[in-house]
Amino acid sequence: MKFAVIGSLGWAGIRHVEALTKLGHEIVAVVDPGDGCAAQAKEIGAVAVASLNDLDLSTIEAATLALPPSLHPAAARKLANAGIHVMCEKPMAPDAKEAQKLVEFAESSDVTIMPGYLLRTNPHIRSFVEGLKTLGPVRRLHISTNVRKPSMAGWRSEPVIGGALLVNAIHQLDLATWFIGEPLTPRMAQLDNVHHEAPTEDLFYTALVSPSGVTASVLSSWSTHPPISNDGLMVTDAGRLRIEAETDSGSIVLTQKGYRINDEDHELDNIVGEKETMVGVNQFLREFEHFVDAIENGTPLWVTVKDNHAVQKLIEDCRAVAIPPAGRIAARR
Ligand SMILES: NC(=O)c1ccc[n+]([C@@H]2O[C@H](COP(=O)([O-])OP(=O)(O)OC[C@H]3O[C@@H](n4cnc5c(N)ncnc54)[C@H](O)[C@@H]3O)[C@@H](O)[C@H]2O)c1
Repeated sequence: MKFAVIGSLGWAGIRHVEALTKLGHEIVAVVDPGDGCAAQAKEIGAVAVASLNDLDLSTIEAATLALPPSLHPAAARKLANAGIHVMCEKPMAPDAKEAQKLVEFAESSDVTIMPGYLLRTNPHIRSFVEGLKTLGPVRRLHISTNVRKPSMAGWRSEPVIGGALLVNAIHQLDLATWFIGEPLTPRMAQLDNVHHEAPTEDLFYTALVSPSGVTASVLSSWSTHPPISNDGLMVTDAGRLRIEAETDSGSIVLTQKGYRINDEDHELDNIVGEKETMVGVNQFLREFEHFVDAIENGTPLWVTVKDNHAVQKLIEDCRAVAIPPAGRIAARR
């Protein structure tokens, strides 16, 4: 399939280029105003374009967006209106209102528009969901990520676009909503600086409930010395995701090789018949395989523009109920 990668020089864009190349797709153009764009294009035999306005849309069939979120909606609309399938990184919009407008747009569009919640396409996580289903209705769910960050620098700690909630917990809130299958309401939320004095939180915690009474908690923490645990997945080279759930008939924990139901280990190669590693670009490979499968074969999307709106709304609901910040770290010590 003929692709353009837009925002190709960023953290996510570089991984989009790598994954699409590995999957054998043709990247016709890389779009980024950054200095390295021409060199990146040369390496993969693509054209370098500084802006989406300069891209010849007749040359591509699909595009990926990995931009600052405020730029996603207009770019997604422009591409989709030209008949181009769009994989847009999370969050798809700067806020829930814009995310809802995209839901309406996607419903009226003929092309495939998929948000980039890559854990939804991770085979390890999908296997966990199958294990969870065997246990009957969920009563309690806990999802945490602990990311090793010696310091907080760059856009990931900037207000509006950064912080542990928007950068990491967004994925966990999406997983919680998916696993429980109901909308979630925060009972309380906490956004604090526990380890680093920074413009955005290094710790996010929320306690949530669903209409049928399921309880979920989500913790996302950035710290210098995150706890070492053998359970869960390394979802980046510095960040571990842990998941546990309880039902009336048992409990389930995500493990490095699959999941554990009560005290019985289920290893992934026994589940899907192949050995999987799940860090880094492999997740992007699976994400793009699914995206292309949805385009070519009409396979229903595993994550939708509506799911993106649900999680962006939940983020705003958490912020609205958040208890006041605990103040500067130095004053508390
Ligand atoms: N799925 C994930 O796990 C994951 C991980 C990281 C980032 N993301 C998401 O990907 C998006 C980008 O994040 P990032 O970390 O790659 O950011 P980044 O700052 O590293 O990269 C953004 C890139 O966009 C380029 N850019 C800016 N304006 C542009 C424009 N008008 N046209 C073309 N290119 C433009 C910049 O030059 C830069 O190279 C964000 O929405 C982020 O939340 C998702």
